[in-house]
Amino acid sequence: MEIGIFCPIGNNGWLISKNAPQYKPTFELNKQIVQRAEHYGFDFALSMIKLRGFGGETEFWDYNLESFTLMAGLAAVTSKIKIYATSATLVMPPAIVARMASTLDSISNGRFGLNVVTGWQEAEYGQMGMWPGDDYFGKRYDYLSEYVQILRDLWATGQSDLKGEFFQMDDCQVKPIPKADMKIICAGQSDTGLAFSAKHADYNFVFGKGLNTPTAYAGINDRLKVHTDKTGRNVPTYVLFMVIADETDEKAQAKWQSYNDGADFEAIDWLQSQGGKDKTSGKDTNIRHMASSVSPVNINMGTLVGSFENVASMLDEVGEIQGTDGVLLTFDDFVQGVEDFGSKIQPLMKSRINVDTPVASQAVSEA
Ligand SMILES: Cc1cc2nc3c(=O)[nH]c(=O)nc-3n(C[C@H](O)[C@H](O)[C@H](O)COP(=O)(O)O)c2cc1C
Repeated sequence: MEIGIFCPIGNNGWLISKNAPQYKPTFELNKQIVQRAEHYGFDFALSMIKLRGFGGETEFWDYNLESFTLMAGLAAVTSKIKIYATSATLVMPPAIVARMASTLDSISNGRFGLNVVTGWQEAEYGQMGMWPGDDYFGKRYDYLSEYVQILRDLWATGQSDLKGEFFQMDDCQVKPIPKADMKIICAGQSDTGLAFSAKHADYNFVFGKGLNTPTAYAGINDRLKVHTDKTGRNVPTYVLFMVIADETDEKAQAKWQSYNDGADFEAIDWLQSQGGKDKTSGKDTNIRHMASSVSPVNINMGTLVGSFENVASMLDEVGEIQGTDGVLLTFDDFVQGVEDFGSKIQPLMKSRINVDTPVASQAVSEA
């Protein structure tokens, strides 16, 4: 099973809590985290794009770096780990993104790939006069389909002439074409999102579900399979989880409890009201489940809380579900979290037994 790190590109990572570690995103912080992740054999690093935060006392995500430029910096200071940036497709024309991807392909020596998002939060785009109107909620994956077709054409041939509903290309040229086979991530959860991934994406990322229920997400693999059966493409699932681990279950649970006790409800309310504006994407669009979730404090993300040993075995369970190839991890404290994962959790994981980490090779040489 592959392991990825979801770079803390926004302040405070993914915990909307006054009791969580409070920090601003910087290149130095992300460099430290991704270099240590690479050291421990993580397979990839992904950063999201977020253009407006949720406010509240913690000013949640009001501070966010930009994904491509952050990942370009990280590509230059790493050598093995795969690097994914996210395109805010509503405001970044595909021919510009294709060229940035080619540049990152060059910087990273073929380690770069792209996450494409439709956008779900009107305020991110409305604040710059670039929200196309609320009927976009129902058309966003049609828009993304044309967008990705242009990317694929440009990357394959250096040229696009696509004439669509949303884009009119006119002998558009982008060279150099990337040397790597450029991979595309989508994080579709709705049926239209899954249908899009089945047709256009190389990987579909999904939200893990619940607290210490590592396989509760599994139904989405079946839903995706309905669509991949039609397209005949293999599109593996990668599952997003937050890991809160410590020496004992009790210590880890105490941290989780504290984060919940400090929930910043003003920021959470903003998130819920923004998510609620989409009346067309259906019940599986994760953001709209916030109100009914166990804990909105980490954006209703699947959460694994416990001792290093128990988190290792829960992560092994995630990977046992048919169709899943990897997990994408966030931590309450990213610096400590990556160290603990690399030195204390990963060595206990059956699904990571073949990973050549410093700890694993040390164990072999000592044996
Ligand atoms: C791992 C992951 C990364 C995501 N990255 C972003 C992002 O960078 N920006 C964004 O606006 N939405 C992001 N999303 C939201 C998705 O693009 C998508 O809109 C959401 O999962 C709901 O699915 P749907 O579009 O099929 O309704 C992400 C979701 C996941 C699970």
